Amino acid sequence: MKLELRGITKRFGALTANDHIDLTVEPGEIHCLLGENGAGKSTLMNVLYGLYQADEGEIVLDDVVQHFAGPGDAMNAGIGMVHQHFMLIPVFTVAENVMLGHEQTKFGGRLDLNAARAKVREISDRFGFDVDPDALVDDLPVGVQQRVEIIKALSRDAKVLVFDEPTAVLTPQETDELMAIMRLLKERGTSIVFITHKLREVREVADRITVIRLGKVVGEASPTATNAELASLMVGRAVELTVQKAPAQPGKPALQVSNLSVIDPRGQVVVNDVSFEVRAGEILAIAGVQGNGQTELTEALMGLQSRVSGTVSLDGRSLVGMSVRKVLDAGVGFVPEDRKEDGLVGEFTIAENLMLDRSEGKPFVKGGNLQLSFLNGFAEDRSKEFDVRSQGIQTAVGRLSGGNQQKVVLARELSRELRLFVAAQPTRGIDVGSIEFVHKRIVATRDEGIPVVVVSTELDEVVALADRIAVMYRGSIVGIVPGTTSRDVLGLMMAGEVPAGIDVEGTAA
Ligand SMILES: Nc1ncnc2c1ncn2[C@@H]1O[C@H](COP(=O)(O)OP(=O)(O)OP(=O)(O)O)[C@@H](O)[C@H]1O
Ligand SMILES: [Mg+2]
Repeated sequence: MKLELRGITKRFGALTANDHIDLTVEPGEIHCLLGENGAGKSTLMNVLYGLYQADEGEIVLDDVVQHFAGPGDAMNAGIGMVHQHFMLIPVFTVAENVMLGHEQTKFGGRLDLNAARAKVREISDRFGFDVDPDALVDDLPVGVQQRVEIIKALSRDAKVLVFDEPTAVLTPQETDELMAIMRLLKERGTSIVFITHKLREVREVADRITVIRLGKVVGEASPTATNAELASLMVGRAVELTVQKAPAQPGKPALQVSNLSVIDPRGQVVVNDVSFEVRAGEILAIAGVQGNGQTELTEALMGLQSRVSGTVSLDGRSLVGMSVRKVLDAGVGFVPEDRKEDGLVGEFTIAENLMLDRSEGKPFVKGGNLQLSFLNGFAEDRSKEFDVRSQGIQTAVGRLSGGNQQKVVLARELSRELRLFVAAQPTRGIDVGSIEFVHKRIVATRDEGIPVVVVSTELDEVVALADRIAVMYRGSIVGIVPGTTSRDVLGLMMAGEVPAGIDVEGTAA
């Protein structure tokens, strides 16, 4: 199906999030939407999906002008959307979830689980998805849950599929599989809109690229463009894709972790006897494929895991058994993997989120009174520094674009008096221009003599930041190697192997 957006304009109060946007997606085309955080990509797709009504402009499918009062209308017209935060019900099976998307009139007039099962099986076979209709969604890896979302859309005959940053939560292998699925869908004539901040993915699958800046289309780019060309078109200036950093000047050991193990609520050992230390003024990156214990390890450091054994100390003081609150008060800055769950309160303003966890003392509270003008000044400064794009510091954080929400978390955590900085997936959802800034800030934090732990599943990020790299596999540290270690070696270690001849800390005889 041919999709045309003609002159789409969407305003939120004084802000024009989409300003007369034209976009055409041909049948069987993968069309990438590129643009910096807050450019208006998600808004445009929400208009297409009927979640927002455009103030001006038309949505045209195969030359017929559409009027969508809500997502139901968009779905009936053949539009499907794969959300980044899945809309599935975890305690239901795959087939039940797929069935839920349909009105009762489908499948012969009533909710028919067998028909839904058959449908899942048929679509799954057609695309080689390997999804069991009777599996509980909760038991499925993220990549498979995403396929369930795709099946759900296809079961409603979606002819246009929208993917808004689908790869942010996927492992590299799941990402490759998703790319293959998108190509297969395209061969079958589906029109695809794909939003991502990862330029490598764009170059891999895009047939056409449209770049949006400040709500307007600024141009088309060729899929053969270099990363640097794409990046500068997006942000309107040249971007340094690799951070310059001087060799670390490590001081005394600051964070010391010995024989740390974590048992999850299901009784599985998810972190297995892990030991490492981080010196003042160095960056230890923890690399590994998502789901190998990194999440639980950082949570254990932060007092967010209950069944923990072993010792963790910062500057000689034990952190084990402390509440999150106490850990934060001890001077630990923390960027959680999932900003929506742990990092921000969506209904609170930017200013309020910037003082979260610090509402009990100076400088924000004096003698029991909130220092409003201080807080506002602070919020203005931090927003400017971290380039948080919003209509002002009194905007609710939930209204910000994904990448701008992430910047609020970073701004808060990097503006505290730190003794340790722990960041999980610090640049998730952040555009290339802002990644440059965030990486520089993390290196600057190191250069102030603060120990830094960065957990990242992005090898590019690990290599860019790390002085030393600990690779995790199935809950254990496979080895700790210098930051200059080659990607090939790191790749093998991420699969649990240590290649012969590689010097791993602690194993030298
Ligand atoms: N419901 C809303 N109310 C008010 N403003 C909104 C709302 N939704 C989005 N905005 C604003 O519209 C602008 C565009 O946001 P949008 O989410 O479309 O950006 P994006 O291009 O998807 O960015 P990102 O790459 O960070 O996801 C932003 O300034 C955002 O704050
Ligand atoms: Mg977005």
